Formats: sequence, C-alpha cells, structure tokens
Amino acid sequence: MAERGIYIVEAARENGIYIPTLCNIRGVKPRGSCRICTVMANNRPMSACTTPILDGMEIINDTKELNDIRKAIIEALFVEGNHFCPSCEKSGNCELQALAYRFQMMVPRFPYMFPVKGVDASNPKIIKDHNRCILCKRCIRAIKTEDGKNVFAFKKRGMKLEIILDPELGNKFTDELAQKAIDICPVGAILPREKGYNIPIGERKYDKVVIGSDIEKK
Ligand code: SF4
Ligand code: FES
Repeated sequence: MAERGIYIVEAARENGIYIPTLCNIRGVKPRGSCRICTVMANNRPMSACTTPILDGMEIINDTKELNDIRKAIIEALFVEGNHFCPSCEKSGNCELQALAYRFQMMVPRFPYMFPVKGVDASNPKIIKDHNRCILCKRCIRAIKTEDGKNVFAFKKRGMKLEIILDPELGNKFTDELAQKAIDICPVGAILPREKGYNIPIGERKYDKVVIGSDIEKK
C-alpha cells in the first residue's frame, strides 16, 4: 500500500521494491531527466521519480522490456562520455558503473562516440571531469551556497552542453560543501583534489553489494 500523492519511486522504496534511479536524489525536487526509472503506470511509460501515485494506479516495474530500456539508457550514457572505470577514483562507488553491473551490460549496442572533453582543475578543492559527466543535474539542484545561489550551472548547448562551476562561488567552497558535491555526483565527474584511493578498489560500496540490494532486503 502506498500513500496517495507521493512519487512512485518513493512508494516503491518504502515497500521494499527497487526501481533504478540516477538523476533522482532523496529530498530534492525531481526533474525526470535520465528516464532510467521508467515504469508502466496505467499502461503508459512514465518516470517513476516524477509521477505521483494515484488511487487504483497499476504500476509495472520489473519486466524484460522495461529492463531493456534501462539497459539501453545505461549503454547510451557510457558511449556518450569517456568512462575509464579502471582508472576512476569513483570506481566501486559509481552508480552508473553499478547499474551497468546490475543490468549486465557487456558491449553497448551503440557505437562509442569518444567525445573530446576536458577536465577543469582550477578549483582548489575539487576537479570537474567533463568526460564522465552524465548531465544528471544533481549538482545543480543540490549544491547551493548558504544564501541559496547555485554553484554549478549549464554552459553551451546541444552536444557541447556541459556543467561548469561558478569560479567565484566555487573558490569559496567550504570543505563540507565540496564533499557534498563529490558525494552527490553519481559518477566520477566531481572528484576531490589531491586525495584518492583511501579506500582501495574492491573494498568500496558497490564492489560488495549490488546497487538496489539494500532496498530489496527490507
Ligand atoms: S557533475 Fe556529476 S552530479 Fe553534476 S551533472 Fe555531471 S554527473 Fe551529474
Ligand atoms: S531517476 Fe527518474 S528520470 Fe532519472
């Protein structure tokens, strides 16, 4: 049973059912940009993180077709960027990598694009690696200064779209806000400067458990 009006993804979580998410963050208004949480709600494909539960709604989540859509989204995200997992500080803590394992991604069905993207190492506390950014906007939506200003923003358009850090606000990052930005990023696109591999690869969260398994065990 789910409380009417809450989002499908929250209701599922409360009832021990895993719906994969990427752009969604608990406690922050959803935007529904990645579509990995697509379910069938009353026979229509809907993003579970932005669709509220209605009385009598029929929701289908775990089918071959839906899981293949999710796998295709994961594959598309891999080929659109440059994800060098074995050399990434986020490996083992990366939600995209963990989803690829969960959905048993092997060779993507799409051709690799190998886009030319840069790394911004101008901030004293974090490194912004555009190669791995999946444009989920979690950093834009969740990382704000005390007076509510966005620290991250979009720059450029279309294939050149990227997320940049406001240089002035970024230079005033507290350690806590910088760490929050590192943690909020689901992939290795926001990384700490001059620190890494404190926890060895193999000992990290998704090296030990499949993503979503904590929900299923409830
Ligand atoms: S930097 Fe990370 S959190 Fe921000 S949009 Fe890119 S992938 Fe998402
Ligand atoms: S998690 Fe729902 S659209 Fe991204």
